[in-house]
Order: sequence, then structure tokens, then C-alpha cells
Amino acid sequence: MERKRYAIIMAAGSGSRMGADMPKQFMKLGGKAILQRTMEVFLEAVPGITIVTVLPEQYIDYWKEYCYRNSFTCPQILVKGGMTRFHSVRNALERIPEGALVGIHDGVRPLVTPGFVAELYSRAEAVPSLIPVTPCIETIKVLREKEGVLEAVPGVEADRSVLYGAQTPQMFWSEVLKDAYLQAYDTSFTDDASVVERNGKSLSFMIGERLNIKITTQEDLVLARAIDSIRRD
Ligand code: C5P
Repeated sequence: MERKRYAIIMAAGSGSRMGADMPKQFMKLGGKAILQRTMEVFLEAVPGITIVTVLPEQYIDYWKEYCYRNSFTCPQILVKGGMTRFHSVRNALERIPEGALVGIHDGVRPLVTPGFVAELYSRAEAVPSLIPVTPCIETIKVLREKEGVLEAVPGVEADRSVLYGAQTPQMFWSEVLKDAYLQAYDTSFTDDASVVERNGKSLSFMIGERLNIKITTQEDLVLARAIDSIRRD
């Protein structure tokens, strides 16, 4: 039997790297909040999906009001975020039952396509963890900063041929994810895959979409707007 499908949309970050007066997930892309655009991809890709939206506590009323004013009537479970992304995910998992299929996605990645999301949900029925990755195209330098100057870290080289960037949505069977999130927080947990891997579980991977960028800085927003307008033409 197919697992019940959930998406946890992570939007409880403060967006400090954007330097704007509002967290980036609420800024506009094509006339709508980035968060709405992201959620619409999942609603289109996975019929009957249940969305858990994780928000900064002080923006929960703002988001309710936004949805009402913009007639964005998607049923969603609103959850307040935590100190770090790890703690935000842990809060959201309280609302997810065992035996479900969960995609955890950054609310600031609205350019993932519905076709790719649908394919991830379909393939993840067969494997407990499925992580989209893109091959590293830059040459990587391993450096450290010393008194304001960058210098090479001796004896450490990065072999680009084995380096991949992890994206979201990262897919998990909920029992695997809930068990992994019982671990104590560690600063090296930068995504959900690292939490599950530390818990002794192996991961499966699939090549992701290059344009599924995480809107983190002003430059990313410029890029996202350009990609979005080209797609609409
Ligand atoms: O900070 P970072 O860029 O890794 O954030 C990735 C995603 O996690 C963003 O969508 C952000 O809103 C979310 N986040 C969260 N709770 C936090 C920190 C980040 O939901 N405490």
C-alpha cells in the first residue's frame, strides 16, 4: 500500500544573510510570496499531500493573514520553528505519523519543478531515504582564514569528481526520520540526510535540478527572478 504523503516546508529562518527587513521566504517572486510559490509546487506535484509549514513564531499570524488576503486556501498545519533548522524539523515531526512518506524542503527553494518532486515521491516509496544531489562544477579550494587573509590548509585536497551538493526535498520514510531526530543536536547536522546517516542508516541519491537554488542572498533573488521570468515566457 502507498504511504501517506507529507511535505515539511522549512520557513522558520530569520533570513539574516539577505539583509532585508523581512525573512526571505516572505519576499515576492512573480507577485507571490516565495513560500507560497514553493508550496504550490508540492500541491501540483502530489495530489492529496498534507503540508506542514514551519514558521518563525512571530510570523505565524502574518502568514495566516497573508493566506487569507491572497485567497491561498491550501490546508496546512502550522508549526513554530526552533533555535536551529534541526530543532524546527523536530517540532514538525511531532505532527507526522509513523508509516508516512515525508519530503523535507527549504521554503526558499521555489524553483524545484513539479515533475521532479512527483518523481522523488514516487521513487522514495521503495527506499527509506532519497537525497537529490548535483555534481560539483567548481574547482574546490580548502582554505582557512588567518588574520583576515585566506590561506591553503596544508595536506587537504578536494577531489571534485566525488563532490556533490545536497539539495532538498530530501525524502524519508517517517519512522526512519523520527528515529534519527531522537539523537542529540550536533552542529555538524546541516541537513536531514546528515542526521539520518549519523543514526547508522544508508542513503540513496538521485541527480537533482541545477536550477533548484536556495534563495539565500540578494544575488540569489535576482537569479531566481530571472529564471522565473524566462520560464513564464
Ligand atoms: O539557514 P539555512 O539557509 O540552512 O536554512 C534552510 C531552511 O531552513 C530555510 O528555508 C529556513 O527558513 C529554514 N530554517 C528553519 N528554522 C531555523 C533555521 C532555518 O526552518 N531555525
